Amino acid sequence: MLKQINVGIIGTGWCGGIRANACDASPLVDKLYIAEQNPERLKELSSRLKLEGFTDDWLKLIHNPDIDTIIISATPETTHYPMALKALEAGKNVFLEKPIATTLIEADHLIETSIKNNVKFTIGYSQRFNAKYAYVKKSLEENLIGEPVTCLVSRHITRELGEKISARTALSPAAMEATHDLDFLLWCLQPRKPVKVYSQTSGKLFSRNSNTPDHQWIMVTLDDGMTITIGAGWILPLGYPNFSNTWIEVIGTDGSLFIDDTHKDIQLNTVKNGMRYPLSSMPGESVNHAFSGPMHNETIHFLEAIALNKPVLVKPEEARLVMDLYIAADISAETGEPVTLPRNDRG
Ligand SMILES: NC(=O)c1ccc[n+]([C@@H]2O[C@H](COP(=O)([O-])OP(=O)(O)OC[C@H]3O[C@@H](n4cnc5c(N)ncnc54)[C@H](O)[C@@H]3O)[C@@H](O)[C@H]2O)c1
Repeated sequence: MLKQINVGIIGTGWCGGIRANACDASPLVDKLYIAEQNPERLKELSSRLKLEGFTDDWLKLIHNPDIDTIIISATPETTHYPMALKALEAGKNVFLEKPIATTLIEADHLIETSIKNNVKFTIGYSQRFNAKYAYVKKSLEENLIGEPVTCLVSRHITRELGEKISARTALSPAAMEATHDLDFLLWCLQPRKPVKVYSQTSGKLFSRNSNTPDHQWIMVTLDDGMTITIGAGWILPLGYPNFSNTWIEVIGTDGSLFIDDTHKDIQLNTVKNGMRYPLSSMPGESVNHAFSGPMHNETIHFLEAIALNKPVLVKPEEARLVMDLYIAADISAETGEPVTLPRNDRG
């Protein structure tokens, strides 16, 4: 007999809204609760979804013994650690949007608490659930291109998104955007580990009003000598709400793999808005009965991991390693020097 679970979602904006829709439609979820601080959004979702309960106080979900699983999709990112810690301490399974925390010490504390309480804990690295990205991992596992020599991921998102992200946090493009691609490549290239990172930022647009860079390059050497290079920029003109444009290169001793994730496959050109690239956001979006993009599948994977007691794909220790790497990248960007890993100035 199928075991259903009871889920509480904290923060139901863009990503939390996608996760709430997925939970609402899943037969794996018996009761769904949400906590949302924005009264209009709370009203909208409570009238549209089949909710067992809704509140503006996230602690009510933590203290509710009926709820076994918590999804945390709140912003700003400083909310992640206190919310995840309370949820894990209360013995709930936790899905936490990236970043796992704001310091490595906090990340360690969350991981220790999840182990102590024997609950599932995972981080939202959604791109692992994008079939194109999963294909890179599969190709490397099957040795289709021989020994990997170098990989590149260059991602650009719109200035609207860059402004939204940088307005709520001081975290860099490495921490907030390249984090997805660092996780993706480290996952594909396991068990290799990063040993050196060099990073540079540049900025001419956002710097007119703040200290926020427009773009960051990160070059990493792994312990077998191969290199990965990741670019993260957030000043593209609109293109489409939350438009993301990504190019991936994987070069090996016996072949190469190029992945076009630039979303030029759908072009909507109207007199009113000019050229638009629908279905081009990183999490994806629903089109009536179908969902295009990785976030829906990622949410269902998590629900299945809890209901069917299967392992989660993204281990929190992997998210911690990504955090270690982007912190080192930010140190390099600030000092202008390469940083070796593991660092001896932990914090
Ligand atoms: N995986 C991905 O592709 C992806 C994409 C975008 C964002 N993210 C991550 O997801 C998280 C959410 O981003 P978003 O763009 O959905 O943000 P958002 O601002 O659209 O939504 C956050 C929601 O949390 C609510 N909230 C804030 N504090 C709260 C509290 N104390 N209690 C209850 N609700 C609260 C806000 O009212 C808002 O509705 C971020 O941490 C971000 O890093 C992941």
